[in-house]
Amino acid sequence: MKGVVLAGGTGSRLYPLTRVTNKHLLPVGRYPMIYHPLLRLRRAGVTDIVLVTSPEHMGDVVNLLGSGSRLGIDLTYRVQDEPGGIAQALGLCESFVGDEPFVVVLGDNILGEDIGSDVEAFRKQAAAGGGARVLLKEVHDPERYGVPEFDGDRIVHVIEKPSDPPSSYSVIGIYFYDASVFNFIRTLSPSERGELEISDVSNRYAQAGNLSHGILSSWWGDAGTFEGLEEANKLARDLVYEELPGVID
Ligand code: G1P
Repeated sequence: MKGVVLAGGTGSRLYPLTRVTNKHLLPVGRYPMIYHPLLRLRRAGVTDIVLVTSPEHMGDVVNLLGSGSRLGIDLTYRVQDEPGGIAQALGLCESFVGDEPFVVVLGDNILGEDIGSDVEAFRKQAAAGGGARVLLKEVHDPERYGVPEFDGDRIVHVIEKPSDPPSSYSVIGIYFYDASVFNFIRTLSPSERGELEISDVSNRYAQAGNLSHGILSSWWGDAGTFEGLEEANKLARDLVYEELPGVID
């Protein structure tokens, strides 16, 4: 399965930390933020990865990661010329992904566990007809995230940053899609914040009744705000990817 890591945006919620560097290069625990999603993918056996970032920061990102070989991955890059949202960035990956099912990780999502079992679950789902899969985590502040609304055990709708959340779960920044996602993206319109929203993409699958989900059992952090960055640093303080001795420096 191929992987997509989305690391664009202006990082405006972290100004002035992000005035001269990309949010995804800021430290989280012992690593630059972007190492975490890349290494979670690698641990799940996903090594063929496209990374999307902005023109301003592409140079720094490539300086850090190069071909990916030091992390045991094979990196391809795409430039998102303007910050038009997560779904727009994903649309840039169509030719890389082709018509295979794939996994997307947002570059500011830090996890305390591996995602191999969800990669496996989605592989089976894709072979049985396709669709999409999201991962959820119960949180105390769902209004900061995309929030699922359930009918029994099934997600019927995802609402982006709702003032009145329909559940106490966050849809975290790991998504599994089949290749029909690119047709969905082409039909999206910008939200109130002027972006193509990833929640709108997942909603197309929810409406079609083929959006599955998994629930994270370990910790999770979205390091895209000051509060989130501080929390992610606490959570990842002792996290070491020790299965790669000599690979990471
Ligand atoms: C994005 C998504 C949101 C998701 C979150 C997870 O929010 O839009 O649905 O819950 O990532 O990290 P953002 O961090 O761009 O505000």
